[in-house]
Amino acid sequence: MTTDNDQFTEYGAHYDATEQWPLRSQLEAPSFLAVLGDLTGRSILDAGCGSGFYLRRYAQLHAGRLIGLDPSAGMLAVARAQAETARLETTFVQAGLAEAGRFGPVDLVTAVYVLPYATSLNELAAMCRGAADALRPGGRFVAFALNPDFAPDPEYYRPYGFTLDAKTEPGEGQPVVLASHLFDPPAQVVAHRWSRQAHDNALRDAGFQSITWAAPSPTEAGIAEHGAAFWADYVNCPHALIVSADRP
Ligand SMILES: C[S@@+](CC[C@H](N)C(=O)[O-])C[C@H]1O[C@@H](n2cnc3c(N)ncnc32)[C@H](O)[C@@H]1O
Repeated sequence: MTTDNDQFTEYGAHYDATEQWPLRSQLEAPSFLAVLGDLTGRSILDAGCGSGFYLRRYAQLHAGRLIGLDPSAGMLAVARAQAETARLETTFVQAGLAEAGRFGPVDLVTAVYVLPYATSLNELAAMCRGAADALRPGGRFVAFALNPDFAPDPEYYRPYGFTLDAKTEPGEGQPVVLASHLFDPPAQVVAHRWSRQAHDNALRDAGFQSITWAAPSPTEAGIAEHGAAFWADYVNCPHALIVSADRP
């Protein structure tokens, strides 16, 4: 898919502002980076790189070759500008995760909040195949997926900056509107709720093994700054989970 992804092109102009949110900087990113482990010298393809938040973190952590993929021209424009300011050598390509195989082999493929934008089980499967195709044997795919058991109350996540509103009866691929209320007007995108089983099947069918799921948690600094009570609801029911899978 090299066509532009409309719902993110508009969002792209502001998306890098989300990088400062406590939820992202003090819970999401530290948890994700902890799962990735030592990145020194490792080649990484970040699919759905958005504004390049994770690519910049990988560079700071002394990763090797970096490739950023995103179907959204708006997101890529922000990512390129940010990388230029930070003087980072990153290759950016307008492409979706399903096409990632063309840009490997790499040691690690990451995809933060990308799998929820699969609009069908076939697309979810194609994304997982794309990740597998981009990895060298022994490589690893790590993603932040939408927690299929996210809180049913759309307002539950408002203290963390967004609302999450499932629009139809629960079911595989149910559309979910995520609105970021730290923007005026709120920025809205439509994601899809896929069960753990659907993720696991798509990953296994793509040839992945050792699939593990982990919940994110805040850093000590985050707890000291905002208090344990601020984080409690999110930790009880996170809206996203980290899924990790190995390519044999
Ligand atoms: C919520 S943003 C997350 C951006 C970035 N990963 C981050 O965490 O800051 C989702 C991104 O996924 C991208 N995306 C949507 N569909 C995709 C696909 N099929 N393959 C790769 N990226 C996709 C969007 O363009 C958008 O940049």
